[in-house]
Amino acid sequence: MRDTSLRSTSRFVCTGGSTTRMENFAKFVLKELSASGLQLDLPTAVENLCRTDRYVMYKVGPVLSVNHGIGMPSLSTVLNEVIKLLRYAGCTDVVFIRLGTSGGVGVEPGTVVIADEAVNHEFRPVYQLPVVGQLRSWPTPLSGEVVEGLKSCCLPEDGYDVVINKTMATDDFYEGQARLDGAFCDYTEEDKLAYLKEAYDNGVRNIDKEATCLAAMVNRANFKAGVACVALLNRLEGDDYTASPETSRIWEQRPPVLVVRYILKRLREMQGQ
Ligand code: URA
Repeated sequence: MRDTSLRSTSRFVCTGGSTTRMENFAKFVLKELSASGLQLDLPTAVENLCRTDRYVMYKVGPVLSVNHGIGMPSLSTVLNEVIKLLRYAGCTDVVFIRLGTSGGVGVEPGTVVIADEAVNHEFRPVYQLPVVGQLRSWPTPLSGEVVEGLKSCCLPEDGYDVVINKTMATDDFYEGQARLDGAFCDYTEEDKLAYLKEAYDNGVRNIDKEATCLAAMVNRANFKAGVACVALLNRLEGDDYTASPETSRIWEQRPPVLVVRYILKRLREMQGQ
């Protein structure tokens, strides 16, 4: 990645899976920050700062919008790069927020889940990675301040549910998330439902493939992390998306809107407004 002008102004790193979504997010941030009346050094248009075609990164004033691809290996790669950039740029007090999509567990499709804890497949708040041949574990704390901040930006007139609960991160979309409709499946619907109900009973309300890795790595770097994902379906009712592409697009806008409100609120506080 080419670091043109990170400087110490980067305060928020927003990340989600797809390149297009994060380009659109950057454009949305630019529009909202430009209209905010805040004293900010903003570009006139968004520019992708990455040389690779695997990732995109846009800097919009104090916000970096970066995609992370699918799953923890892809996420951990980009987080290493971004954390190094932030260190070289002397950035402190940075908040990382993953905004994305997920599979809901016992929630209405379209619900936004703000994670208060990121847990693994055993519902434990740990992220594990073999390092020089030894399996290592790290805790996966999410920032209470970010959780509360995001919650305070939800408005009754938004007209959709927001829940604050655990997000479970898995290493796989199909068997890892107990789906029956992958290429391989040697368990029954009963096994699947028993597992998902156990997840629900342990406080899990959605499943993604990144939350634990994000929480652990951001914590190791001494920054703060949050995760706000929309649930595209309720996994207790099925494995496949049933919402129309148009409805899904509306739902996918929910985390970005919430996160931009949070960023504006924080920037206003920082500028004493
Ligand atoms: N992302 C996931 O990881 N799982 C889902 O079910 C939907 C989106």
